[in-house]
Amino acid sequence: MTTIDPARIPENLRPVIEAMCATGAQLSRVIARGPLAGKLGAGVGENSDGDQQKALDVMADEMFEAALRGTGVKYYASEEQEDVLTLDEGGTFALATDPLDGSSNIDVNVTIGTIFSIFPVADSATASFLRPARDQICAGYIAYGPQTLLAVTFGAGTVLFVLDPETGRFELAEEKMDLPVAAKEFSINASNRRHWGQAVLAYVEENERGKDGPKGKDMNFRWVGSLVAETHRILTRGGTFLYPSDSRKGYENGRLRMVYEVAPMAYLVEQAGGKATDGVTPIMDLTAEQLHERRPFVFGSAEEVDRITALHC
Ligand code: AHG
Ligand code: MN
Ligand code: MN
Ligand code: MN
Repeated sequence: MTTIDPARIPENLRPVIEAMCATGAQLSRVIARGPLAGKLGAGVGENSDGDQQKALDVMADEMFEAALRGTGVKYYASEEQEDVLTLDEGGTFALATDPLDGSSNIDVNVTIGTIFSIFPVADSATASFLRPARDQICAGYIAYGPQTLLAVTFGAGTVLFVLDPETGRFELAEEKMDLPVAAKEFSINASNRRHWGQAVLAYVEENERGKDGPKGKDMNFRWVGSLVAETHRILTRGGTFLYPSDSRKGYENGRLRMVYEVAPMAYLVEQAGGKATDGVTPIMDLTAEQLHERRPFVFGSAEEVDRITALHC
């Protein structure tokens, strides 16, 4: 029994995507049990990025790593691992993942997720990931919320599947997601306001002035604290997301990781007709230099992302 219709997946990627979906379905059952499944949000260590690791971060990482063995994935890079792991010498793919995104929301029953990005293997383990985001051949996220969802792209649009809890299969929900060009909402962690640069401050102030400002319309505000949840909302009904660089030590490039979070979400957003930049340059034109590096990230409705670029110039 497969967890997703193989006819919807390029042939060479079928075992990889099937492993991601089967593991995502398994993980969604653990998450749905919450405290009945143990202390999923308990702190258990620290990862190489300096984030506190929760029990579910480590569990998810171990589950995906184990499931991807023998599926054609040679190299596995994870937010929760220091270095790239070699899973299968004969494999032809390099898969990067944020196995559990939004870990501050584990204990409060708010949407969390898994993000992944796939490249064809290059000459070495690191060279397989440290390359232009444009080299990705697949990106996706699984959202564990009121519904468990998979949004995935293979370079021909962003496709949405919903997990049917009755059958344990991801069923097609939307053939081609279409991110609205205009937005009514924006997302940024407003508690960092005093650390922002001029362009970001100007954008937020414009939004706050609403109808009375240059926009001529009111803007609503949302901040979930899970990139997967924000991305899904924006792909569905438009909006903008910003995690910019700010003046705090360690936030020179924002908070989000280029390889595990920024590049895959940028690919999904572009494929749905939205835009994704570091404030100025399209993310898909950027190349990661280090595995765990961070990048300022701005994405969403094309009109708004263009406005943010203009404010930066
Ligand atoms: P992770 O749980 O994988 O470390 O990612 C958390 C990220 C992302 O999901 C979210 O957008 C952002 O961190 C939240 O940042 P704040 O702590 O500034 O709210
Ligand atoms: Mn983390
Ligand atoms: Mn994350
Ligand atoms: Mn994570």
